[in-house]
Amino acid sequence: MNIISDSSERTRAIGKKIAGKVKPGDIICLFGELGSGKTVLAKGIASGLGIEKSRVISPSFVLLRQHLKGRLPLYHFDLYRLKSCEDIQAAGYEEYLFGQGVSVIEWADRLKYLLPKEFLKIELRVAGASQRMLKLIPVGARYKDLIKGLR
Ligand SMILES: Nc1ncnc2c1ncn2[C@@H]1O[C@H](COP(=O)(O)OP(=O)(O)O)[C@@H](O)[C@H]1O
Ligand SMILES: [Mg+2]
Repeated sequence: MNIISDSSERTRAIGKKIAGKVKPGDIICLFGELGSGKTVLAKGIASGLGIEKSRVISPSFVLLRQHLKGRLPLYHFDLYRLKSCEDIQAAGYEEYLFGQGVSVIEWADRLKYLLPKEFLKIELRVAGASQRMLKLIPVGARYKDLIKGLR
């Protein structure tokens, strides 16, 4: 499913809509260059889960921020500075991922062999000053379902 967003607000709204459909254990992997809107989308998801938006910042310098006050726990990963996959494995990465919360992972390409078997893949691309192309690709049956709910 391709969506063209022509403003940050629209990207945020898409995130909110996704948040309305997520279930415990869902994993959303974000791919896209710097400035493509991954954090904006993550903020939308957080907001849709009822998490105060001021709390959601680009976690670049920590690999994970947890938000526990929404409808579901949100684990917001930013792997930009991840040096090796072992580092997040050691931090209990899999326990978060396969727990009861929702994981949103920026720079998911860094995961390599740690990429889960099933997840919602979202590729973001800069298409203009305030335009972003979002490509939603379900990997696994659960995420086909999630996508259907978005139409
Ligand atoms: N349609 C859009 N969707 C998302 N962000 C947009 C859009 N148009 C412009 N922007 C701007 O692009 C930047 C995206 O930043 P950010 O979400 O931090 O990117 P990333 O996390 O992918 O590095 C923000 O400054 C935002 O205001
Ligand atoms: Mg970011």
